Formats: sequence, C-alpha cells, structure tokens
Amino acid sequence: MSRYPNPFGSIADDELCSEQFARGEDEKDTLSHFRHEFIIPTKGDLRNKRYGPYRKQEVELGHDVIEDDNDEESIYLCGNSLGLQPRRTREYINRYLDTWASKGVFGHFKNLEGGHPPWLHIDDALKEQTSKLVGSLPSEVVVMETLTANLHLLMASFYRPTADRYKIIIEGKAFPSDHYAAQSQLAHHNIPPSALITIEPPSSSSPYLSTEHILSIISQHAASTALVLLPGIQYYSGQLFDIELITRHCHSLGIMVGWDLAHAVGNVPLKLHDWNVDFAAWCNYKYMNGGPGVIGGLFVHDSHSKVEAAGVSAVDYATNNGTRQLVYRPRLSGWWGSDKSSRFYMENQFVPIPGASGFQLSNPSALDMTSVQASLDVFSMTNMDALRRRSIRLTAYLEARLLHYRKGTPPYKIITPLNPTERGAQLSILLNPGLLDDVLAYIEERGVIVDERKPNVLRVAPAPLYNSFWDIHRFITIFHEACEAVVSQTQSNGGHF
Ligand SMILES: Cc1ncc(COP(=O)(O)O)c(C=O)c1O
Repeated sequence: MSRYPNPFGSIADDELCSEQFARGEDEKDTLSHFRHEFIIPTKGDLRNKRYGPYRKQEVELGHDVIEDDNDEESIYLCGNSLGLQPRRTREYINRYLDTWASKGVFGHFKNLEGGHPPWLHIDDALKEQTSKLVGSLPSEVVVMETLTANLHLLMASFYRPTADRYKIIIEGKAFPSDHYAAQSQLAHHNIPPSALITIEPPSSSSPYLSTEHILSIISQHAASTALVLLPGIQYYSGQLFDIELITRHCHSLGIMVGWDLAHAVGNVPLKLHDWNVDFAAWCNYKYMNGGPGVIGGLFVHDSHSKVEAAGVSAVDYATNNGTRQLVYRPRLSGWWGSDKSSRFYMENQFVPIPGASGFQLSNPSALDMTSVQASLDVFSMTNMDALRRRSIRLTAYLEARLLHYRKGTPPYKIITPLNPTERGAQLSILLNPGLLDDVLAYIEERGVIVDERKPNVLRVAPAPLYNSFWDIHRFITIFHEACEAVVSQTQSNGGHF
C-alpha cells in the first residue's frame, strides 16, 4: 500500500478494480473530452502490416491477422515516448502544403486569409503558447532545432570553463544523448573526461535520487564546477526533480544550471522564469504530441539574453552600420538569431534578437512548426494546472491497480517514487528477471502499447490529454493476465512462455 493519500478516498478494493469505477471516473472528469482531439489507433491498426489504418476487407482477404477486437481502440500508454497525433494536425499540414503549392515563396511573407502566420514569423507565433507550458515570458522561449542540438547550443553559451571551474555534473543514468553531449563539451574544451561528475543513487536497488543527495554531491564539487545539467523528469525512473530548489542551490554556489525537460514539458506544470532556471531544452514529440523527431524548444532566462550597447538599442545599432559594440552572452550564431529588421540586408552584422530567439541558427522547418502549432492549439484549450490535477488522479489510479495484484506477491515493483509530487504521469515497473520479453509480447498481441527499457523495465505513462481511466483498467486486466500466464509457464517448465 502507498503511504500517500489516495485521491479516491476509502474505497473498497473490489469497487476500485471494477469496470464501473473506471467508467464513472471518466464520466466525472471534465477533461475527458480531450481524448477526442486525438487519433487513437485501433488494435487492427497496430496489427496491420501495411502502413496506415487497418481496413477490414484487407484483413478478410487474408493479408493480416484476423482478430475479433480489431475495431477496438488500442491501449496506448506510451506518450512518454511518442505522443499520439492530434486530429487537427492533418488539417494544419494540408493547409501548409496548400500554401506552399499555391504561393511558393510568398508563403514566407504574406498574411493569408484563413491561413497560418507567414513562415517568416512562425517562430514568433508559437512563443506565447509555448511560454504558458513552461512558465516563462514569451521572449524567454523559442521553438527551434532538436533537443540534443539545443543542449549543445546552450552549453556553448553557458558552459564557460575556467582553470578553477570546469566540471559538469549530470546524473549517472542521464539519457545517453545528454551524457554524450556533456562528455563531448568537455572534450571540445580540452578538459579531461574525469571532469564529468555523475550523481549515482546511494542504493543499487533503487534509482531514486533524493534532493538532499543531489544537493550534497553538487556542494561537494562546487568549487570546481561550472555547470549542472539535469532532467526535469528522469526518463527511466519517472522521478520529478525539485527544479526550483536545485536551481537555487546551484546559484548559491555560483554554478549555472540547465534542465532537460523532454519528459516534463506538457506533463507537469513548470515555472522556469520564477525558478530562475538559467536554461532548458525539450523535445515536442512526447507529451507535446508534435510528431516523431519534430522540432524542439528552448528557454533562456531573461537575465541571460539581454542585448545591450551603451545608450543604444539593438535596432539603432543595426541601422548604425554596426559602429558601436554590442554586449550580449556569447553563443554560436546563425542568421535567424539576428535582428529581423536587418536580417535580409545581408551585411554580416550579427545583432542578436533579445531573448531566446537570439539563440536561433537556421530558418525553422515550417512543416515542423505547423505540426507543433496543431499540438499547442490543443493545449491552449486547457492549462497545465488542470491537466496536472487530472494526471495525478490517473497515475494514482494506475498505481493503486498495480499494487492490487490478485495472485499474491506481484512479480514486479514500481520504481517511480510513490510521492505524487516526485513524479509526473509515468510509472516505471521493474519486472522480476526473465519476464520482460514474454510479458511484452503477451500484452502487445492484445493491443497494449507501453515502452520497455531492457533488461527488466516497462514504462507506463497515462498521458493526461488523451488517456482514460478505462485505458488503465484495460491495461491492468491484460497486464495482470500476462504476469500470471508468464510466471506460471516459467514455473512449470523453467523456460519461456
Ligand atoms: C531525456 C531525453 N533527453 C534527450 C533525448 C534525445 O532527444 P533528441 O533525439 O530529440 O535529441 C531524449 C529522447 O528521447 C530524452 O528522452
């Protein structure tokens, strides 16, 4: 049993585990209707070997597996990996294609009735909505490049090693791309690999990193550390870090701190500006539902992105033929980060746009931006606080159902913190050794999509925008069946299912 308050009150186990309970929760929840904004693949869609949706006739012609539940919605609990497609995305992308087809380069410049903003200004058009998701000023965010590329660009600006302060602190199980990025930043500055400090969990039986532990490792290396780079939510364990407190601690020790928010954006409310975060980057393809590998986003705190010249604004400077010196945080630059009004003069005078936009390099893919726009328009119909309230209930329900295993001791344990304030939507389930492949095969055959991390972890994430209590009920029914079948098979023949 969890020692945290159960949001469902003192409800009997039988009732909690009933179909009616899940149905009732969905009916009560005022955000349930957002599910209809998304295309939920059917089980037939997933089984179909051809790309695109499943068509009954083809299945009947023997091209595919025939199951009687092909028309049923699948149980998609994998928004922590790839979010589902908003229904409006196709419409927006068609509009983009029509604009390109009918206007060519004019699509960059012309305001078109019923169309999207001119591509030239599409980066500005996404700021306001993005800023609401991360708790920032619109000027502090920009949608650009991809996550790892953005981490590099931000480290190029914020990791300025000196003889005394040169270490980078990350966590020991950082997403490999972050690990490689930090490692290669050290190499880029000719700093030995030993300057990469990793925060390891104190116990080998749990990935949990308490805030005290994190702060103590940072303190231990403070005098020689230039940068701390941490995830808002840890991808493997699902642990949500105390971004505000860790940021404050780093600042009190003179250390810059950046956050990888891949698993946090669109999942939990963030207040990057108020928390004084120096910089952050994220992708838009997980809880953000922008599509596979779509353009990412970044945040740079207002205090770091000013562009100043004694008595002269950036725009004056641009029109002054660059005779005055501008003062701004060093960065790797490209033309899209330069002042819009002078960008097309082609004069080789870099005049950074104040704010996060000044960190852009290239003109962004309008196709990607259009897809992100579709997703942001769904988020804009609600807000992160309301989504979080729903998410806490969904994940608590998933947890309660996981803890209630009918056949004695479950062959798994939850490794995500049980404290709701230390996690987002995702629960990570550590299966007993040897069960993962067979359990996964069993549930996938029955239309359940979750994410596996070898050797023994399943990550299950009810996305607050489109997953339902009913999804969780169906998941648990199939998952428990799978555990029982695989365990009994393993016990009876000592081998695979
Ligand atoms: C936590 C985290 N960081 C970094 C990445 C890498 O992202 P990208 O391939 O968009 O650079 C991912 C991808 O899933 C991730 O989950």
